[in-house]
Amino acid sequence: KAKLAVFASGTGSNYDAITEAVKYGKLDAEVALLVSDQPNAKVVEKAKQQGTPTFVFEPKQYRDKNAFEEKIVNVLQEHKIDWIVLAGYMRLIGNTLLRPFEGKIINIHPSLLPAFPGLDAIGQAFEAGVKISGVTVHYVDEGMDTGSIIAQEAVNVTDKMTRDDLQQAIQQVEHRLYPETIQKLIARGESQ
Ligand code: GAR
Repeated sequence: KAKLAVFASGTGSNYDAITEAVKYGKLDAEVALLVSDQPNAKVVEKAKQQGTPTFVFEPKQYRDKNAFEEKIVNVLQEHKIDWIVLAGYMRLIGNTLLRPFEGKIINIHPSLLPAFPGLDAIGQAFEAGVKISGVTVHYVDEGMDTGSIIAQEAVNVTDKMTRDDLQQAIQQVEHRLYPETIQKLIARGESQ
């Protein structure tokens, strides 16, 4: 079974969607590790409650990015991780982590990339007044939300929608699209 490491910095609603998909047999994988750079994040609490192994670190306790990424690579190798799934992990991945997992790191982003990369994509799209936004799942490279696109789904922005409504609509799509896309990637990998 494919072993996933989910990386998250916040609430972890995508983490929840992934673990639920595993539980209900829609995703044939194991969430073998939760990695977080935010010791107080809700997602860390959730993982601990569920008995998922966690690796939680504070970037400022390391000499530099290279140092904490080296540590992460060691932990991932100890847990025999096959795929890194970023789910609201609010940091760029550096070469130290990218190289050993190239092609095996994916991210979800709450816009139709290449529109609205970076922080607060939902707010950016809302302010821009676009009538269509959506969700993108993509491979991770060294850039900010620039890796090649694996899956996208559109969300209509109607006139009466608030920013919060848009966020809700987008997250609802994320929670279905991410587990689905991960399942396809894993199935493809195993048939090679
Ligand atoms: C998600 O909407 C995800 O797309 C976004 O952060 C949210 C995390 O929510 N990621 C990015 O903006 C990455 N650039 P969650 O913690 O509830 O899963």
